[in-house]
Amino acid sequence: MEELKNKAIEVLKGNWKDEVGFSIPCANLYPFQWFWDSGLIAIGFSHFDMPKAEAEIETLLDAQWGNGFIPHIIFHTESDTYFPGPDFHRSDLHPLSSKKYKSTGMTQPPVTGFVLEELYRISTDKKATLKFLETVIDKVYFNHEYFYKNRDPQNEGLVYIYHNWESGTDNSPIWDDIWETMNPPEYTFERRDTTHVDAAERPSKREYDHYLYIIDIAKEHNYSDEKIAELSPFLVQDPLFNAMLIKSNESLIKLYELIGNNADKIAQLKKWQEKSIQSFNNKLFDDEIGAYIHYDLRNEKPLRYLSSSSFSPLFANIPSKERAASMVNVMMDKFGGEHQYLCASFDPTSERFNPKKYWRGPVWINLNWMLYNGLKQYGFLDIANRVKQDSIEIIEKNGFYEYFDSRKDMHNHGKAGYGGNNFSWSAALIVDLLNE
Ligand code: DGY
Repeated sequence: MEELKNKAIEVLKGNWKDEVGFSIPCANLYPFQWFWDSGLIAIGFSHFDMPKAEAEIETLLDAQWGNGFIPHIIFHTESDTYFPGPDFHRSDLHPLSSKKYKSTGMTQPPVTGFVLEELYRISTDKKATLKFLETVIDKVYFNHEYFYKNRDPQNEGLVYIYHNWESGTDNSPIWDDIWETMNPPEYTFERRDTTHVDAAERPSKREYDHYLYIIDIAKEHNYSDEKIAELSPFLVQDPLFNAMLIKSNESLIKLYELIGNNADKIAQLKKWQEKSIQSFNNKLFDDEIGAYIHYDLRNEKPLRYLSSSSFSPLFANIPSKERAASMVNVMMDKFGGEHQYLCASFDPTSERFNPKKYWRGPVWINLNWMLYNGLKQYGFLDIANRVKQDSIEIIEKNGFYEYFDSRKDMHNHGKAGYGGNNFSWSAALIVDLLNE
C-alpha cells in the first residue's frame, strides 16, 4: 500500500502548478483550476504538504467574485486544449466578476467548507492550521451567503443549479429529461476533449449544443442570478450539490466555534442548516425509490432516478438512522451485486445506464470517498470497507483514472479506467483513504 500511496503522491506533484499555486485535474483534458477538484485535491496534499493544500484553497478563493460566487473553472493560463474556454464563457459580463482572473460564470458543488474541516482534522500542527483557517473561512461563509441569497427563489433552504456542469455529474442520464424540454440550435465548434479521450467515454455533440445554449442564455443577461432563475431552461435542485452545502455548513459551524467570536455567523449558519435539512428530507426523498432524487424547479417535477448522488446525503448526516438503513438496502440491491464494483454513478438496472461513459454509469473515486465516509458515520462498517477496498482495487488494476467501469469482469482484460489518466482527485482521495 505504501507503493500505491507514493504513486498517488507523484500524480499530485505532477499536476501541481507552482507558479500560480493550484492543481490541474489532469493534463490536456482539464488544463485549469476546477472548483470542486481543487477542494478535494487539497485534502490529498494536506497529508504530506500542508503549504500546498493551503495554497490550493487560497488560489481558489482569490478568484471569488464581489458577490461571494466562486466559479467552476478559473482560467489561470492560456490553453488551446480545452473547449469552451474563457472567450466563450466571458465572465467579464457580470459586473461583480473577478477583475484578476478569467473564469466561467457557473459554479460547482460547494465542498470548501468541509475541506477546511478535513485540513484541520489531518493537520499535525492544529494551531498553525487554525491560524490559516481564520484567514480564509469568511470567504467560504460569504460563498454560502451567496447561495442562500441568490439561488433559492422560493426560500426553501434548497439551492438550484442552472447548468449540468454546476452539478459536477456533468452528463448524468438525469439531465436527459431536461434536454427533452429544450431544442437548442446546432452550434459549430471544435471539441477538444475527444482529441484526448475516446469519444465513447465523453458526451455527444448534441449534448454539447445543450450545454452551450444554457450558457448563451445566461450570457445574454450578463449572468444575472435573477434572470437565470427566471429564464434558464435548466433549473434543478440537486441532492449532491445541496448535500455538499449542508455538509459544509456543518463544518463552518464547528470551525467558527473553535475560532471563537463569531456568534452571529454561527447563528445564521444554524438557521440555514435547520431549514435546508428539513426541506431536503421533505422534498428530495422519494419513498417509492427509497433514496434521494433531483427536483426540476423549472418544470416543477421530481426527476425520479437513482444515482450515486442519491446516497451522498449520508455524508452530510441528512437522513435519519432508519432512512439511512433503507437507503443502504436499496444501494446494495441495485448497485452492490457481486459482479459490480461499488458504486456505479447511475442505476445499473436502468436502460440509461452506460458503464463506460462519463457520468452515465462508471465508478468515481470522489463519490466513493463521500460514500465511504457517510457509511462509516452511520455505522455500516462492512459496506464502507467494501467501498474503500473497491476504490483501491480499481486503481491498483488500472492506474489513477478519472472514472472506472463498474463491471468487475471488464477489469480482467485490458483497460477499464476511462477519461483522463493521472487524475488528481483519484490520487488525492486514495492518499486520504490509505492514511487512515
Ligand atoms: C468538462 O469539460 O467536461 C468539464 O468537466 C466541465 O466541468
